[in-house]
Amino acid sequence: MNIVVGITGGIAAYKAVGVVRALVRAGHDVHVVATEKALRFVGRPTLEAISRNLVHSDLYEGVAEVRHVAIGQAADLIVVAPATANTIAKIAAGHADDLLGNTILASTAPLVVAPAMHTEMWRNPATVSNIATLRARGIHVVGPASGQLTGADSGPGRMSEPDDIVAAALSLVGPRDLAGLRVLVTAGGTREPLDPVRFIGNRSSGRQGVAIARAAATRGADVVLVVANIEDGVLDADPVGLDVRHVSTTAELRDAALAEAQTADVVVMAAAVADYRPETVAEGKIKKETQGDVFDLRLVRNPDILRELTAARRPGQTIIGFAAETELDPVKLLELGRAKAARKGVDLLVLNRVGWAEGFGTPSNDIVVLTGGGDRVTEASGSKSDVADRILDLIPPPRPTPSE
Ligand code: CTP
Repeated sequence: MNIVVGITGGIAAYKAVGVVRALVRAGHDVHVVATEKALRFVGRPTLEAISRNLVHSDLYEGVAEVRHVAIGQAADLIVVAPATANTIAKIAAGHADDLLGNTILASTAPLVVAPAMHTEMWRNPATVSNIATLRARGIHVVGPASGQLTGADSGPGRMSEPDDIVAAALSLVGPRDLAGLRVLVTAGGTREPLDPVRFIGNRSSGRQGVAIARAAATRGADVVLVVANIEDGVLDADPVGLDVRHVSTTAELRDAALAEAQTADVVVMAAAVADYRPETVAEGKIKKETQGDVFDLRLVRNPDILRELTAARRPGQTIIGFAAETELDPVKLLELGRAKAARKGVDLLVLNRVGWAEGFGTPSNDIVVLTGGGDRVTEASGSKSDVADRILDLIPPPRPTPSE
């Protein structure tokens, strides 16, 4: 796809490099149109190297080829990130005093803008009214997120993360091969309380599960995402409109998963579920005086939700499990995966190695997918959103057509 990334003059312009990079890695032909001010924040060579195309910024270059309209006419999608308050005002008013303004006016492609500015500017009635104008015209506004701004300020106005912008943008134009499917994804890690202030938990950030949910929604699926204690920021912006349920304990995750699975065509159990929970939960804070130097904690087994799901599988339902293993030897790792796939009764098992520095909490992942019978079907490594797409590619046909 031919995608134009418009970059305007805000400090978040440096993060636009991530947007360009993600779009190129997804296989798109990316053309950057930067304002002169944007190029004061991020260098042309960086953008040319990452986009693998020349960067355009001057209205009076390439006049013979009528570049001021040609770029917009050829675009299948335009993403403006960051979009400053000034650029938003110009788009709302239809200004064409620079190459980006001309490109936008000359295009009939979907337009996505990712605002970035200080909170006061975002809340200013002029910006509020400009954003309403953009939305009324069918322009897609992604974010802004809330958080640390330039300087010491913090609040709404921070540009959404590049992956969120890309997911939102591609959802407008990407393949809708999962349309008509209802997909349940669990993500994060369950926590088992010991007392009102303590719990037993795990280091799952929820990133891989959230990436699967987003990728499925981007590809047209109707997604329910059950999240347990995911890391801050992982679900800050929700660009694709997921139906999110928050849970914390294994019992809560189980209730939500079993209920939602009854209507799901695909279930992806990416959550790291606590296998045990404290036998009793103290009403008040457990005190050292009553425990002494050694604290014996009795744990009882939690139900295996995935096994319950596969035992109750609806006809045609695809159930995908995950296996997090610390085994270093690749042969033994595969054996563990095969045994787990069989034990759990899944259709597909995503096997990944976890460790002190691997798998959990990291932005990338490295997986092998096995069938329920233990055959290796695919391997993938890369960003968690790339890995998510490779997993979803394995959902077996027949897939309903969007009209069904
Ligand atoms: N799982 C589950 N319920 C549990 C434990 C795990 O549904 N009580 C699911 C996880 O969501 C994952 C899969 O089972 O999809 C495998 O989880 P994993 O922790 O790798 O395996 P366990 O079954 O816990 O086995 P072990 O820890 O002994 O390797």
